[in-house]
Amino acid sequence: MIVEKSTRSNQRYKSSLQYLSMNGSTVMQSENLPFRIIQKHYAPMSESYRILVIHSVLVANKALAIATAYQQRHPEVALDLRFLEEAALLHDIGIFRCHAPEIHCFGAEPYIKHGIIGRAILEEEGLPRHALVCERHTGAGLTKEDVRAQQLPLPMRDYLPLSFEEKIICLADRFYVKEPAALYRPLSLERIGEKMAQYGAEALARWKELRSMLAE
Ligand SMILES: [Fe+2]
Repeated sequence: MIVEKSTRSNQRYKSSLQYLSMNGSTVMQSENLPFRIIQKHYAPMSESYRILVIHSVLVANKALAIATAYQQRHPEVALDLRFLEEAALLHDIGIFRCHAPEIHCFGAEPYIKHGIIGRAILEEEGLPRHALVCERHTGAGLTKEDVRAQQLPLPMRDYLPLSFEEKIICLADRFYVKEPAALYRPLSLERIGEKMAQYGAEALARWKELRSMLAE
């Protein structure tokens, strides 16, 4: 039953790609939705747009690679690749409202809030499932206890990736930073591990668990 659902979902995904390649396009059909939303909030000629789009495409590409490899090992698990790609392209949509001048974002909010800001934007777009990816992709997820202990300016709740797609995007996002000088360069697993360790032993353990589950 699960296999059947997975196969149907991915057949739809493949057929959308085939349709577009027949029409000579080099882009995927699902690009339309994320980019239409991104362009409501980012001027296409701006540096913040360039950074967001390059980062998001790299994360989407990595997420699809992780998902495809995972599905080959676990064909019984249904993964929604179309949703995965769209959500990966939209996961950082909230950064423009945050203060992060190094990545050309000049909003007033602390950067840690970009996830909940993204969630609000995507909920308004009628995309509640994509919206959850926004607030669950930070680090290896955040717990209520992290919010309390680090006094983060976030509503008191857990921000942990739960679905396979949420976990895959969270994992894929760790490979790429948004600083312009390092935008295209994937981080090594060793470097990601070092960064995760800075957030504490539990964050490091959650990231290692994601890795061993999805990218064995
Ligand atoms: Fe990201």
